[in-house]
Formats: sequence, C-alpha cells, structure tokens
Amino acid sequence: MGGINVVGVVGSGIMGAGVAEVAARCGYTVIARSRTRSGADDLRAEICGVLDRQVAKGRLDADERDDIAGRIDVTDDIGHLADCDLVIESVLEDVAVKRSLFTELDRVVKPEGILATNTSTLPVVEMAMATRRPDRVCGIHFFNPAPVMKLVEVVRPITASDDTIEAAMRFATSCGKDAIEVVDRAGFVVNALLFPYLNNAVRMLEQGTASRDDIDVAMKGACNFPMGPLALLDLVGLDTSVAILDALHAEFGDPNYAAVPTLRRKVAAGHLGRKSGRGFYDY
Ligand SMILES: NC(=O)c1ccc[n+]([C@@H]2O[C@H](COP(=O)([O-])OP(=O)(O)OC[C@H]3O[C@@H](n4cnc5c(N)ncnc54)[C@H](O)[C@@H]3O)[C@@H](O)[C@H]2O)c1
Repeated sequence: MGGINVVGVVGSGIMGAGVAEVAARCGYTVIARSRTRSGADDLRAEICGVLDRQVAKGRLDADERDDIAGRIDVTDDIGHLADCDLVIESVLEDVAVKRSLFTELDRVVKPEGILATNTSTLPVVEMAMATRRPDRVCGIHFFNPAPVMKLVEVVRPITASDDTIEAAMRFATSCGKDAIEVVDRAGFVVNALLFPYLNNAVRMLEQGTASRDDIDVAMKGACNFPMGPLALLDLVGLDTSVAILDALHAEFGDPNYAAVPTLRRKVAAGHLGRKSGRGFYDY
C-alpha cells in the first residue's frame, strides 16, 4: 500500500475543520469537501481565522500560516476527492447518512484509497460494508478540538486489513498524536467510559443535587479535569452527545447510557451547546 500524501476531509462542522487543520499543519495536502459552495468557503474562513488568531498570539509565524493555508483546498464537489490516499469523514453522527456517504466515496475515490470515519460510536463495519473495499475502511477518531487533543483512536472493524490499520496508525502518529488501536465497539475506549459520567452529571442537575456551576467546579477541583461535565457537553454538542448515548444504549443496553430527558429537550429546543450559542451555558 502506498504512502499517504493527499488527505480528503468530508464535513465542515467542528471536527471537519479541526481534522483539516491538523493534517495541513503536519504537511499533508488537504482537500476539504462541504456539501455547498458557501459551506466550503465558510470552512476555509473558519480555518484561516483559527490560524490568524495563532499568529496574533505569537504561536505561529505568518509564513507557516500561509504554508498551512496553502495546503488546504476546499470544494463542494465530491469528485475532487478522487486522488486522495486517505479520506476522513466527519459528517452528522447518523449511520444512514454515513453509509450513503461511504457508497459515494467508494465510487469516486481511487480504489487503493483508505476511507475512514471519525464516528464517535457508530459501527464502523456498517460503513465498510457500504463500499466495495471493506478491507480499506477503518475508524480514525480524533477528539475535540482536534488540533489540541493528543489522542486518536484507530478503530479496527472485523473487515479491515492489517495494512489499513497500520497505515491509519502511521498517519495518526505523523499528526503528532498518541494513537491507540481499538476494536469496533460502540464508544470505543474513551466515549464508552466518558458518557455515563456526562449523562449522570445532567441527571444530577435534574435531581437538584447541585447547581450547574457547582457540578462543574466540583469535577474540575476534585479530579483536576480541565472543564466540568456540563461545559464539556456544550463543547461536544448536545445533539452529537445524544447520538453517542443512543448508539451506546442500543449496543449495550446499560441504563447509564440512556440519555436523560434534559439532554433531549435541549436538543429539541435547538440548544446544542457552543455551536448554537446556547446549551447548559450561553456563549
Ligand atoms: N463534537 C465532538 O466532540 C466530536 C468528537 C469526535 C468525533 N466527532 C464525530 O465527528 C462527526 C461530526 O461531528 P461534529 O461535532 O463535527 O458535528 P457538526 O454538527 O459540527 O458538523 C456536522 C457536519 O455534517 C454535515 N451534515 C449534516 N447532515 C448531513 C448529511 N445529511 N449529509 C452530509 N453531511 C451532513 C453538516 O453540514 C456539518 O458539516 C460525528 O460523527 C461525531 O460523532 C465529534
């Protein structure tokens, strides 16, 4: 299997932008695809804004910024991903949406290209089986914010070849990440452990055990976590969080994974966290 030079990114939300930035920073040529031209332009503006802020803070020099931005091409045409050695999708956490995207990617991306999903919980094998190359499909799960967080989970569905997993591990390591390999189980390692905690923090708020701020202060102060559970849910996105809990609950049936009503009501109200300006906190 050849090396990875050109990386496609599909999805222009929080994670798509982060993954595109990480790959470009690490020297890869990136082609980032959004469904619309305006989405593609917004994605470029978002990434350039992040890089500009880094320059203003003295963390990046202007030449480096220009080099990184110059390695990112944005498009609304999925056909532009044809020559990618690796494509990582970060679209909506919905298995039907992802399966149909994988079928489309399989049609357009060169046969030797690896197709990867950034899903937090969904069965990667379902996406692999939506293609004619299930041996070249795996999970490459970044954490939010992707440029900052050190961990990547490389997810091995039962269909993946060793070459695919090795290439994904090498890619993640080359991005400066600590890569771990994990089998294809809902939530992999991190979210399977993290989400009962986050869900129970909302339950505690519902039960009036402590206030929002005090729950967050407690977990920061006692466990040295950089943010409390309610602030973390806002960062992840409450819609994405409910989708993660639903997938975990469907797989394991554990009541700790059943999303508590407040989470669903906030999603129904459009209070999705930071990305919508309002969640447990206002932004
Ligand atoms: N938010 C996190 O903390 C986090 C962390 C790791 C992985 N992920 C995973 O990354 C993926 C994206 O999450 P996000 O937080 O970036 O979400 P987001 O809501 O910020 O972005 C979702 C993207 O999907 C696109 N989209 C929506 N419906 C679509 C459809 N029908 N077809 C194609 N594209 C569609 C949207 O336009 C948007 O670009 C999910 O699989 C999620 O589980 C999220």
